[in-house]
Amino acid sequence: MIESDKIHKILYGGDYNPEQWPEETWQDDMRLLKKAHIDIVTLNVFSWALLQPDEYTYNFSMLDKIMNLVRDNGLKVCLATSTAAVPAWMARLHPDVCRTSHIGIHKKFGRRHNFCPNSPTYKKYSAVLASKLAQRYKGYSNIVAWHICNEYGGLCYCDNCEKAFRQWLKNKYKTIENLNKAWDTNFWSHTFYDWDDIVVPDCRTEEFEKNGVKSVYQQISIDYLRFNSDSLLACMKAEKETLKKETPDIPVTTNMMGIYKQLNYKDFADAEDFVSWDNYPEYGEEPVDIAMRHDLMRGIKGGKSFALMEQTPSVNNWHVYGRLKRPGVMRLWSYQAVAHGADTVMFYQMKRSVGACEKYHGAVIDHAGTSTTRVFREVSELGRELEYKIKDLTLGGSCASDIAILFDWENWWAAEFSAGPTTLINYVQEIKAYYKALFKMHYSIDFITVSDNLEKYKLVIAPMLYMVKSGYDDKLKEYVKNGGALISSYFSGYVNENDIVTTGGYPGKLRDLLGIWVEESDAIPEGESNSFIYDGLNHDKTGTEYPASILCDLMHTENAISLTSYKKDFYSGMPAITVNHYGNGTAIYVGTHSSETFYKEFLGDICDSCHITQLIKIDSGDIEVTERRNANGAFLFILNHGTKEAGIAIDRDCRDIISDIEYKKGDIINIDRTDIAVLYNKMQESL
Ligand code: GLA
Ligand code: ZN
Repeated sequence: MIESDKIHKILYGGDYNPEQWPEETWQDDMRLLKKAHIDIVTLNVFSWALLQPDEYTYNFSMLDKIMNLVRDNGLKVCLATSTAAVPAWMARLHPDVCRTSHIGIHKKFGRRHNFCPNSPTYKKYSAVLASKLAQRYKGYSNIVAWHICNEYGGLCYCDNCEKAFRQWLKNKYKTIENLNKAWDTNFWSHTFYDWDDIVVPDCRTEEFEKNGVKSVYQQISIDYLRFNSDSLLACMKAEKETLKKETPDIPVTTNMMGIYKQLNYKDFADAEDFVSWDNYPEYGEEPVDIAMRHDLMRGIKGGKSFALMEQTPSVNNWHVYGRLKRPGVMRLWSYQAVAHGADTVMFYQMKRSVGACEKYHGAVIDHAGTSTTRVFREVSELGRELEYKIKDLTLGGSCASDIAILFDWENWWAAEFSAGPTTLINYVQEIKAYYKALFKMHYSIDFITVSDNLEKYKLVIAPMLYMVKSGYDDKLKEYVKNGGALISSYFSGYVNENDIVTTGGYPGKLRDLLGIWVEESDAIPEGESNSFIYDGLNHDKTGTEYPASILCDLMHTENAISLTSYKKDFYSGMPAITVNHYGNGTAIYVGTHSSETFYKEFLGDICDSCHITQLIKIDSGDIEVTERRNANGAFLFILNHGTKEAGIAIDRDCRDIISDIEYKKGDIINIDRTDIAVLYNKMQESL
């Protein structure tokens, strides 16, 4: 992750905003943070207004004091560039810096994440600020990372974006004729005669329906999301470039938001030195939701370890309910991050603010200002444990996996922009159906994107691969031909990069590989279902009836074999799931959506047939297991998310590095509710 000789343990800390407090309180903060075993602070995330009070003046006096304070107290720094909220003078003098909303309102100064990515003013001043920060603080050897901006996101539809969009389209399509062809503009008389005919697809154009969730002209809407993502990425790259000139050895990152739709995070991951992200599960979400985000964040950087940049130590102000993290849960979820590849455990924030919307957000030091709170105690106990037990042991460890799930942002946008075949189309939900079943059975799972190689995996799952990008069909064919196993699901293979249908029968360019022809698809209304019987890949198990929901593909086998068929309706007897032997491998197609029990049964059988083994063979959905390996050895993380103690038979000789207890293969380890074990085994080859 932060590959540096400055890092000797899991970094522990988070956002600290002393500029919000009188200076005389800072020393006491230092005392409390050290007491909590905090060793890193993220500084300067929202200080632009203080650093640059007008167009010509820069004032670093407060930041100098803060930088010296934390250095004198032995803390490391993740130094932010402060460019996520513009100063008021900038909006007053240069309104182009503000965004225009999707309903065409040019916004006034306020809030944060409030800049237009194509504003010449923003571009100029953000790069200058980053450069000045780098020049000023490059001598501080305790800076371990640059934190560029903060949670990039949102869209702008202003005149500057419109101009830049036209230029972006010109670069992509070269001629207006090419664009007309690519976008199929004869539909609804959309022919563009001139680049200037193209306007941003905001609500005024009525290309968007249902508050921007659906689009009537997906071609322009998808390109607009690509353009917007590229525009924000260009802002990040511009800052990165100026930082690297001064501090080539300090790694850069920008904090992401997990499964966030509007930005193509893969591109951001490629542009930064390490991935960092902010983990704020909503009330009602399960450990699997968090695990999936961690795995995706690891996956977009090719499996490298990442930084947990933010999480609340206790409560979240912007959720529907300010539900407290129960005793032990902050520790459990911190280890969950580490278990999936994090090399830091960081919080938002160190000290609870007194004004504005985050005054009731959790913090290490709350308004009582003491170390006598439950939250402070839990934070400092975890800090001690990370410092004295985990130390540097797990740093850089990767999570080996034989299974990859494909995640593609552009496919996500396209699949859900489409009107039809059903409003229940939900890309992330479909991915989660597969992920969850595997997660519950304790398989290690990688996420990959379309640019990643497939060869190292025994099983690749590409749910709802609606958009098949040029050449990706060949990549999948090559993989299966060489012996790989592929699973794809309904609503796959329909369109190219521009959401233009591949004619000649669904699933388009995957038809040959999957050995099927999907003639029609029947949308199943919410609450209703068809069904099928599954009795094993070789029909050697007792059959169980499972629901078929969301969409039922009415398909014909070509080279494939039907594994099971629908039980009801006029298409009763038509295949629901097919298996195609292709080259040395197998391509499986699941023509509908089913239940968690089905996915577990089915994927368990597929993993067996692919000789993919579980990390541990236990039948408890409340237990989460991952494994990280590095030069020190293998670390098996066992986390008990349940409400009861669990006894787990160990498959290896090992030592729990937290309790320091040695275990022999076959021993039972008892893990209390919300507790964890990190089982260390030096001899990787003996596993
Ligand atoms: C985000 C931001 C932080 C803070 C937290 C509060 O993740 O990055 O600045 O607002 O939310 O949960
Ligand atoms: Zn704009």
